[in-house]
Amino acid sequence: MTTPKSALIIGASRGLGLGLVRELLGRGWDVTATVRDAAHPGDLAGLPVRVEALLLDDIHSQDRLAETLAGARFDLVFINAGIYGPAHQSAIDANLADIGQLFMVNAVAPLRLAERLLPRIDGERGVLAFMTSELGSVAGNESGGMALYRASKAALNSLTRSFVGELGETGLTVLNLHPGWVRTDMGGEAAPLDVPTSVKGLADQVEGHAGRGGQFYLDYQGTTIDW
Ligand SMILES: NC(=O)c1ccc[n+]([C@@H]2O[C@H](COP(=O)([O-])OP(=O)(O)OC[C@H]3O[C@@H](n4cnc5c(N)ncnc54)[C@H](OP(=O)(O)O)[C@@H]3O)[C@@H](O)[C@H]2O)c1
Repeated sequence: MTTPKSALIIGASRGLGLGLVRELLGRGWDVTATVRDAAHPGDLAGLPVRVEALLLDDIHSQDRLAETLAGARFDLVFINAGIYGPAHQSAIDANLADIGQLFMVNAVAPLRLAERLLPRIDGERGVLAFMTSELGSVAGNESGGMALYRASKAALNSLTRSFVGELGETGLTVLNLHPGWVRTDMGGEAAPLDVPTSVKGLADQVEGHAGRGGQFYLDYQGTTIDW
């Protein structure tokens, strides 16, 4: 018997995070998953997972999670949680609170959390995955639209590049993953993809890239995206 692989999924109350938990459990992984309040795990309550609390926009919550998981070892840490930001998506109409929240949750907090959890990830075959978006590609932005959300994911991509650039010698693989346009609360009902299709592809990318080392910006089907 081989030891099951272990994953930590950040932001698993619903949508893609919850789907990832289900997909990895189906593949025989041990899963730890976070929600804002561990006393209210929602749909995770019925699943065989360890549930921990994590509020991305609270540095104390991040520090508490890192301390709680001090003895743990993960093959995968997947930082999935994210928000869309203000509906107007306009830099002209944005206020400091909206922008602070959007860039903290989508870009700065994921990196801070990654720094705190890095010692918990297997240094040879481990994978650190960030849920970004193809909209975070600066090179691919030829149409505009969803400007603030795009900018927050571009900031996430940039911060992850700096993080990887400063890592030094390691076998760690860092994935910046685009899930496709998916029917979730964020993606809306018009999205062409369902959650199971997207998360199956995402899990395939994680399993297929483990051990390669380096950083990859990919969609759920493994297609490379220009930064
Ligand atoms: N759906 C798409 O088409 C699509 C496309 C590209 C990229 N993405 C990215 O995929 C990720 C998941 O999106 P989704 O479609 O599954 O969205 P979703 O259904 O809106 O779920 C968002 C998840 O993030 C959590 N979250 C949000 N803010 C948080 C915070 N401050 N602290 C802790 N958890 C927080 C939510 O927890 P609560 O339930 O507690 O709010 C929820 O679990 C996001 O990063 C999103 O940007 C989605």
